[in-house]
Amino acid sequence: METRLVKIGEAEGEESTQAALCEAAEILKKGGLVAFPTETVYGLGANGLDEGAAKRIYAAKGRPSDNPLIAHISCMEELQPLTAGISPVGRHLAEQFWPGPLTLVFLKSKRVPYGTTGGLETVAVRMPGREEARRLIALAGVPVAAPSANLSGRPSPTTAQHVWQDMNGRIEMILDGGPVGIGLESTIVDVSGQVPVLLRPGAVTLEMLREAVGDMEIDPAIQGIPGEDIRPKAPGMKYRHYAPRAEMILVKGDIAAVAETINRLAKEHERDGSKVGVICTEETKAQYIKGIVRSVGSRSKEETIAHNLFAVLREFDDLEVDYIYAEEFSEKRLGYAIMNRLKKAAGYREIQA
Ligand code: TXA
Ligand code: MG
Repeated sequence: METRLVKIGEAEGEESTQAALCEAAEILKKGGLVAFPTETVYGLGANGLDEGAAKRIYAAKGRPSDNPLIAHISCMEELQPLTAGISPVGRHLAEQFWPGPLTLVFLKSKRVPYGTTGGLETVAVRMPGREEARRLIALAGVPVAAPSANLSGRPSPTTAQHVWQDMNGRIEMILDGGPVGIGLESTIVDVSGQVPVLLRPGAVTLEMLREAVGDMEIDPAIQGIPGEDIRPKAPGMKYRHYAPRAEMILVKGDIAAVAETINRLAKEHERDGSKVGVICTEETKAQYIKGIVRSVGSRSKEETIAHNLFAVLREFDDLEVDYIYAEEFSEKRLGYAIMNRLKKAAGYREIQA
């Protein structure tokens, strides 16, 4: 299949953006697949009420079909038909944070096919902050089921070029709206029970959620490797997501000691003929003398780290590095989501400097 790559956004002008969105909406209506930018990462969209279209998403991504998809909506009126009831806490969170990087899990209505929820009785819903994404959904006239537009197991795409790398030849169209804003996937909160449960940390932080609703549980699967006794409520969290091809290791400890340890290990690997990538920050990059050194951003501006992290992981894939060593970050605010993705990418391997 030929994949069309079409630019949208301010630089392209309103007329051609509208034409591209209309074309994309027609593809969605006919059961086809369109990748589009949201404020978090690029999504791979299909008609969320069409099980056949959902099957095509799983095939294009190489993703197990027990991993449910998020239904994207364009306005508040589109929520109710998808759910079998909206709890007060669910409504409150939706009103406070939508449109934006928050996904809410509700009991599903009959309209939502099991083919998109991985057989679950619940449905995940999100109203994206990015305006073109909402326009596309409105034009399609259906909820748009969209996982991140990467091949299963690869880091989520934050540019249209990342999507092209993974999806060229597999889908009908890619809408190129430039680099996304946030760079990490949305926060997921299950509001189908009594107490809301955080299933995946993101740019709507735990601190913000607690301030909004008080009580908030955390799914234990966020903290570590899902095992026999820890079954993640977001099925996707059990897979080794966001994974680079290299063996990745997080290095804990005092920052000077971390740099020293990474320099020593990188030197040893290079002596053995292995390629090493180092993930560090503006504040620390001058301390590294070995390996391919990439600053992901500034420790004083954690949103820059979130923005660049997946692109750096992909770059290391392209460079075919064998080992990646990464510094650790504070788990406060956005740092919680950053560390969650880093730990998953590293398969929870970490060493003390
Ligand atoms: O920012 C985002 O959320 C992006 C953009 C495209 O919106 N989408 C995204 O989708 O990250 P995906 O499919 O890569 O991740 C969705 C996660 C998976 O871990 C999945 O298991 C979980 O949401 N999920 C979906 N439906 C669920 C449900 N009913 N109950 C619990 N978890 C659910
Ligand atoms: Mg994903």
